[in-house]
Amino acid sequence: MYENSKLILDSSDAPEPGQFTWRSPSNIAIVKYWGKYGEQLPRNPSFSFTLAAALTDTMLEFEFRENYDQNIDLEFFFHQQPNEAFQKKILAFLERLLPIYPFLPQLSLKVYSGNSFPHSAGIASSASAMSALALCLCSLEDHLFGTLKDPAAFDQKASYIARLGSGSACRSIFPYASVWGETSALAGSSNEYGVSAEHILHDTFKDFHDDILIVSKEEKKVSSRAGHALMEGNPYAEARYTQARARLSQLTEALSSGDLPVFGKICEDEALTLHALMMCSNPSYMLMRPQSLAIIEKVRAYREDTGHQLYFTLDAGPNVHLLYPGSIVQEVRSFIESDLKQLCEQEYYIQDWVGEGPEEV
Ligand code: PMV
Repeated sequence: MYENSKLILDSSDAPEPGQFTWRSPSNIAIVKYWGKYGEQLPRNPSFSFTLAAALTDTMLEFEFRENYDQNIDLEFFFHQQPNEAFQKKILAFLERLLPIYPFLPQLSLKVYSGNSFPHSAGIASSASAMSALALCLCSLEDHLFGTLKDPAAFDQKASYIARLGSGSACRSIFPYASVWGETSALAGSSNEYGVSAEHILHDTFKDFHDDILIVSKEEKKVSSRAGHALMEGNPYAEARYTQARARLSQLTEALSSGDLPVFGKICEDEALTLHALMMCSNPSYMLMRPQSLAIIEKVRAYREDTGHQLYFTLDAGPNVHLLYPGSIVQEVRSFIESDLKQLCEQEYYIQDWVGEGPEEV
C-alpha cells in the first residue's frame, strides 16, 4: 500500500548529510499473534501493552552517494561494535523496503543501535529494534520529501514498516497499548499496521506493571519465525484463530471496564495456549523450563492466598512476565524478592511497566 516510485532524490539537489535517533520500547502481547500469511500478515488480531524500560536506541546516519548503484550501502553497529549477523538482517529488511523507499541506494547509511537490557538476557529485542529503525526511516522520508507531516500518517507508516521487519514490532509505535489485526472490536484496526488502543483503556491499565523474570538467558532453540511457520501444519490452527478473535473482543471489554479478573484469565489462558500450540506442532517443541512452571504455580497460589490481582504471561520463550496494577507494586516486589527471584537465572529480573511509547531523541 505504500509502494511509491516517486521517492527518488534529485542528484542536482542532493541533501546535506544528517541523522535521526529514536528510542523505542518493547511490548508484551496479551492476546498473542501466532501464525502468519503473505508478507508478515497476522492470522488473528493481537493486543499488547507498550513497555517503558526495555528499549532500543537507534541512530540512522545518512549521506548522499555521488556514485550510487542498485545496492544499499549500509554499515551496522550494535553497542558501538560492527555486527555482521545483525547487519545482514537489516540489509535484507532494507532491500525488502525498496518498492516503498527506492531512494535508499542513493544514500550511504550507518545504523547505530543499542538496547537498555543485556542482549543475552533472553529478551526478544526485535520489537524495540525494528520499531526504532522504522521510526528513523520515516523521519528520513519526511526530511527528504516532506511527505509525513501529519503525526497519524507518520505513525501508521512507521507501524507498517516495523511490521515488515518483525510482526509484533508494529505495535510498539503507540503509547500504552496497541491492536494489530482486523477486528470488529476496534474501529480502524488493520492487518497491515498496528493502531493505538489507548482510548479503550480504563485508568487501571495505564498504571500497569510488567516485571520480567529471566528464567534463562540462553537464546531460544526455535525462533519465532519457525514457530509461526509450524502453525501452517498445526491441526488446531483454525480453532486457535477463532479463539483468538473471540478473546480479543472479550479482552477489549475488560480493558474498558477495568475488569481485572476477566483480563487476567484471558492473559494467562493466552500464554498457556501459545505454549500448547508449540507442544502440539510437528515437530513438537517446548520453550518453558521447569522454573517457568514453578513460577506460574507460585503466582497462582499467591493470588489465591492474598487476593492480589497478579497474573502471568509468556512470550515465545521461558521467561515469565508478571502483570499487575500499580496499586500493589510494593507487595508484588517483596513477593518476587522472597519467592520468585531464586528461580531466575542469576536471580535476574527486569522491572518494567506500561509506558508512553517511542520518542525522538
Ligand atoms: O513478531 P514476531 O514474529 O517475533 O512474533 C512474536 C510472537 C509473540 O511474541 C509470541 C506474540 C506477540 O504477539 O508478540
